[in-house]
Amino acid sequence: MADLSCKVGNLQLATPVVAAAGTYGYGLEFDGLVDWSMVGGISVKGISRDPCPGHSAPRMVETAAGVLNAIGLQNIGADAFVVQKLPGLRTLGPRIIVNCWGDSVEQYEAVVERLDGEEGIDALEINVSCPNRRQWGGVLAADTAATAAIVAAVRKKTRLPLWVKLSPNVTDITESARAAAGEGADALSLINTLRGMAIELGTRRPALSNLSGGLSGPAIKPVALCMVYDCVRAVEVPVVGIGGISSGRDAAEFLLAGASAVQVGTANLYDPAAPARISSELETVLEELGESSVSSVIGTLRTS
Ligand SMILES: Cc1cc2nc3c(=O)[nH]c(=O)nc-3n(C[C@H](O)[C@H](O)[C@H](O)COP(=O)(O)O)c2cc1C
Repeated sequence: MADLSCKVGNLQLATPVVAAAGTYGYGLEFDGLVDWSMVGGISVKGISRDPCPGHSAPRMVETAAGVLNAIGLQNIGADAFVVQKLPGLRTLGPRIIVNCWGDSVEQYEAVVERLDGEEGIDALEINVSCPNRRQWGGVLAADTAATAAIVAAVRKKTRLPLWVKLSPNVTDITESARAAAGEGADALSLINTLRGMAIELGTRRPALSNLSGGLSGPAIKPVALCMVYDCVRAVEVPVVGIGGISSGRDAAEFLLAGASAVQVGTANLYDPAAPARISSELETVLEELGESSVSSVIGTLRTS
């Protein structure tokens, strides 16, 4: 069988398939439902320094080939995460990537400082790309100076591998990529959700209490693939591809475009074993392509 192991920077993963933040809870909820040996990593639900209640319901609605969500970054806060979730999480096997965020540079620093040094965290993933956080005054990642300031500040607070999660809600995502990489990001995760809206005709009301939300799922895969391809060429640091991946074939396309690993989000909502299933499907796809390992297929898209 093909060798599924891969590296994102210095971090070794057993498979290139990681469960994406916000779609896999704190990971522990899925124990017993999935073969952990076939999951490369778990990106834990975005953690803030203090607990956050998120938005009121309705917070999710299905759309054509996707889902629109405005959860509002609900989470239990860093202290409770470290005490209640991390001890169990670190026994599961996959790499643990803690997605985290704040409402100010100081809050980003505070959450990173709290998590740094805790046993069992393999990387931090800084979320500057949520499209639903009113307190941000927009999508932070759309402001390259704000992105650079946050990455520079948190870089000083941790030696853990620092992944920065970028937004598609920009004119040119390679500018965000350069800003994050320039301030010391070890990897870039992309893409987060695309800002969108759904309307219920009968009630003449927005389908989400927040009015708008973030679109994910198969509908966004072509956007994500193109942005991954562009960013891989723009920066030296590895890129983790995210957006609409629901099969081994989808994952392989992102690897061809140059992603070093991938994350699976919306597919987990209907198939809790999706990351493991996609890893085993990828094994078959690699064989079909005549490749014996993940590393031999990365960035091998033929463009001429
Ligand atoms: C319900 C839901 C909650 C999410 N929460 C987070 C989050 O807390 N932090 C984050 O960086 N991304 C979050 N995301 C974005 C996903 O991690 C992922 O980037 C996006 O959904 C695109 O991948 P997909 O099409 O495979 O779902 C969330 C997505 C969904 C659907």
